[in-house]
Amino acid sequence: MIFFLDTGIVEEIRMASEWGIVDGVTTNPSLIAKTGRTQKDVIKEITSIIDGPISAEVISMDLKGMLREAEELSTIHPNVVIKLPLTEPGIAACKILSRQGIKTNVTLCFSPVQALLAAKAQATYVSPFIGRLDDVSQDGVGLIREMRTIFDNYGFETQILAASIRHPMHVRDAALAGADVGTMPFSVLKALYKHPLTDKGLAQFLEDFNRSKK
Ligand code: G3P
Repeated sequence: MIFFLDTGIVEEIRMASEWGIVDGVTTNPSLIAKTGRTQKDVIKEITSIIDGPISAEVISMDLKGMLREAEELSTIHPNVVIKLPLTEPGIAACKILSRQGIKTNVTLCFSPVQALLAAKAQATYVSPFIGRLDDVSQDGVGLIREMRTIFDNYGFETQILAASIRHPMHVRDAALAGADVGTMPFSVLKALYKHPLTDKGLAQFLEDFNRSKK
């Protein structure tokens, strides 16, 4: 499973990059706003830390504006992936950019048929928001399962990017359901390392080792 970090905070990205298991980064307008910096500055700095796909989202609602923004964002670095909303103009922009060889991430996907549209537009990634579906009593991981079946039925190459991951169980369940990628906040990535028996076992090993030296 490919791991992306879902953040605009470069200190988190720097720290996680040292762990050697971060393959890329996703951002969105809310995450960029939290940094108090411009999207261009943040994305540029991220590309200097992580050598992998970095998603940057367009703000425009219309096709022309989306394509203009995509062109600007693409000039920042070849690793920039253009994140587009799952709307009529967003899907149209996705098809045009895909034909130009520009990588895309269709975001705010909440249903299997929406995912089918992104796959038909040859999106590189499509992002089902599993946490937000769970929030409204719908089955976030179930959506990934359905998407996996549909994409495999037709041989679509669009990668399923599990997003809106809130806790380690989401990572486990998304992996079991066949998501290609999981994007998660720094706190969730950090939590993946944790197990009380690991801590307990380590403490015991150290205690035994130190006792044997006496
Ligand atoms: O990747 C999308 C993610 O940023 C949304 O997460 O927790 O705001 O639903 P959340």
